[in-house]
Amino acid sequence: MHDVLIIGSGAAGLTLALSLPKTMSVAVLSKEELAEGSTYYAQGGISAVLDESDSFESHIADTLDSGAGLCDEAVVRFVVEKGPEAIDWLVKAGVPFTREDSNNETSNDGSNLHLTREGGHSNRRVAHAADASGRAIETTLISAVKARKNIELFEHHIAIDLITSRKLQHQRDNRCVGAYVLDINSEKVSTFQAKFTVIAAGGASKVYLYTSNPDGASGDGIAMGWRAGCRVANMEFMQFHPTCLYHPHAKSNLITEAVRGEGGRLMLPDGTYFMEKFDPRGDLAPRDTVARSIDHEMKRLGIDSVFLDISHKSEAFILEHFPNVYAMCRKFGYDMSKEPVPVVPAAHYTCGGLMVNEHGHTDVDGLYAIGETTFTGLHGANRMASNSLLECVVYGQASALDIINQDKNTSAISITIPGWDESRVTDSDERVVINHNWNELRSFMWDYVGIVRTDKRLQRARNRIEMLLNEIDEYYSNFRVSSDLIELRNLAEVARMIIRSAQLRKESRGLQYNLDYPAADPMLEKVNTILDPLRRSNATLND
Ligand code: FAD
Ligand code: SIN
Repeated sequence: MHDVLIIGSGAAGLTLALSLPKTMSVAVLSKEELAEGSTYYAQGGISAVLDESDSFESHIADTLDSGAGLCDEAVVRFVVEKGPEAIDWLVKAGVPFTREDSNNETSNDGSNLHLTREGGHSNRRVAHAADASGRAIETTLISAVKARKNIELFEHHIAIDLITSRKLQHQRDNRCVGAYVLDINSEKVSTFQAKFTVIAAGGASKVYLYTSNPDGASGDGIAMGWRAGCRVANMEFMQFHPTCLYHPHAKSNLITEAVRGEGGRLMLPDGTYFMEKFDPRGDLAPRDTVARSIDHEMKRLGIDSVFLDISHKSEAFILEHFPNVYAMCRKFGYDMSKEPVPVVPAAHYTCGGLMVNEHGHTDVDGLYAIGETTFTGLHGANRMASNSLLECVVYGQASALDIINQDKNTSAISITIPGWDESRVTDSDERVVINHNWNELRSFMWDYVGIVRTDKRLQRARNRIEMLLNEIDEYYSNFRVSSDLIELRNLAEVARMIIRSAQLRKESRGLQYNLDYPAADPMLEKVNTILDPLRRSNATLND
C-alpha cells in the first residue's frame, strides 16, 4: 500500500512525485525505461513570461488566440501566471537551460535564459536547452527522484486498469483505490493499492499512422480513466505538427518549430515561400493553420512533402541552436545548413483528455490526472507550442498541493481487493490479430480522421472502429494480457472517442477541419465536446 500511486514518469508524473512531502510513500510506474515518453523527446522548450518586454496579458492573449474560442480563460491565466515560478523550480532542480551568456551555464536563477520563439507566440518566451529541452528536463527530474527514499520506481510496469469501489460493487461512492499492474518482465499481474492515484500517462498520438510521438503514446491513461468513470472532453482536437522530416526510411522525426522561430521558412519544391498566402503571421502562424496549409499545398500539387529552409543561417548558428536536429537530418542525408529539408505534418499532441479541475482532480474520488492525458481547458481547439510542458509542471505541483490537503481528511480505505483473475483466460494462439488490428486502426485513422475530415470519412472510421473494438474485447476476454494487447485495447477506445467527438462537432474550428462544415459556428464558441461514460453530464455537444 502506498500513499500515492503515479502512473507515468514524464514531466507531469515526476514533478508531482517531487512536490509531495518526503513523509509520503510514493510509487511511480513507467511502462518502459523511466525516461521513455514524450517528455524526453521535447525539443523547442517550455513557455513562460521571462522577458521584460513580455507580459502575462500577451501570453494569455496568444494562448486564447491559438485555442480558437475554446480555451478556459481562467485556466489560461492560472497557468500563465505560474509560468515564471515553474521555470524557477526547474532551474533550481538543475535543468541546464541555454543561457544568453554561455559562460554562465550554472547560474541558479532564471534571469539570463536564452528565449526562443515558436508559432503563435508574439514574443520570445520559450526557455530551452538547445534543441533537446525535454531530455534536459526529464534526466534532471529522474536524478532528483532517484535521490528520494520515499519514491519507489517501477520500470517496465504497465497499468492495466484502475480499481474503483464501484467496480468492486461498493456502490455508495466511486473512489479509486489503486490499479492492476502487469510486470512486463515477469509477466505477473499485481495489485498496487494507494490512497491517491494519479494518471500521468501522456497522450494518444500513436492512434495515427504517422506521428512524432514515441511508441508508448497509446492513450492508456485516457482509456483507463474513462473505464473508471471519468468524463473525457475535446478528443476531436488532435494536433498535427507541421514539420517532421520526410524520408521513406525514417520514422516521423520532429524538426522543432524553433527552426521557424529562428528564421526558417516553408517552401514549395520550386522555391516559393507560401505561408503568407494563408496567414499574415506567415511561418509562425499557429500550428493548425500551418499544418493545414502544408496539407493543402501537398494535395494541390500532388507532392510528397514541402521543404523547410534555414540554409541562409550559418553552420555555426545551426550547430549552436539545433545540434540534434542537424545531426538527425545529416543521418538521413540532408545538411540543413546548406539545403532545404523535406517535411510533412504528423500527429503530435492530444489536446483533449480526462476532465480535471484546477487541482488536477477527476470525476472519481481519489483519482487525479495531469499532463497530456488531461483536458484542463488550457489548450482549447489548438495547443500553442511549448505550453504543454508548462501545463505538466503547473498541474503536477497543483495536484501535489491538493493531495497534501486531502490527505489530512482521508484515512486509508479498508477494502478487500480481489487479485487479478486469470482463471478464464489462456495464452493467445493468434497474436497476429494484435498486429493486424494495430496497423489497420492507425491507417484508417490517418486516412479518415486526419487533418481534413468529412462526415462520410468519419462514418467510415466509426463503422470500422466498432468492428475492431468487438474483436479486441473478445480477444481480451479470452487471452492472457500482454503489453501489446493492453495498448491496442486502449488505442482503440481512444480512437472511438476521437471519432465520436469529431462527429459531434458540426463545424470547423482549430484542429477540427471538416469539409462539410468549413466555417466555425459562433454558437459553438466556448462549447466543449464532452463524452460521459455514466451519461451524467449536462454539457452541450454531449452524445
Ligand atoms: P509523457 O512524457 O509522455 O510520459 C508518459 C509516461 O506514462 C511514461 O513514463 C510512460 O511510460 C507512462 N505510461 C503510459 N501508459 C502507462 C501505463 N499503462 N502504465 C504505466 N505507465 C504508463 N511540449 C512542449 O511544451 N514543448 C516542446 O518543445 C515539445 N516538444 C515535443 C517534441 C516531441 C517530439 C513530442 C513527441 C512532444 C513534444 N511536446 C512538447 C509535447 C510534450 O513533450 C508532452 O505533451 C509532454 O512531455 C507530456 O508529458 P507527460 O508527463 O504528460 O507524458
Ligand atoms: C517543437 O519543438 O516544435 C515542439 C514544441 C511543442 O510541441 O510544444
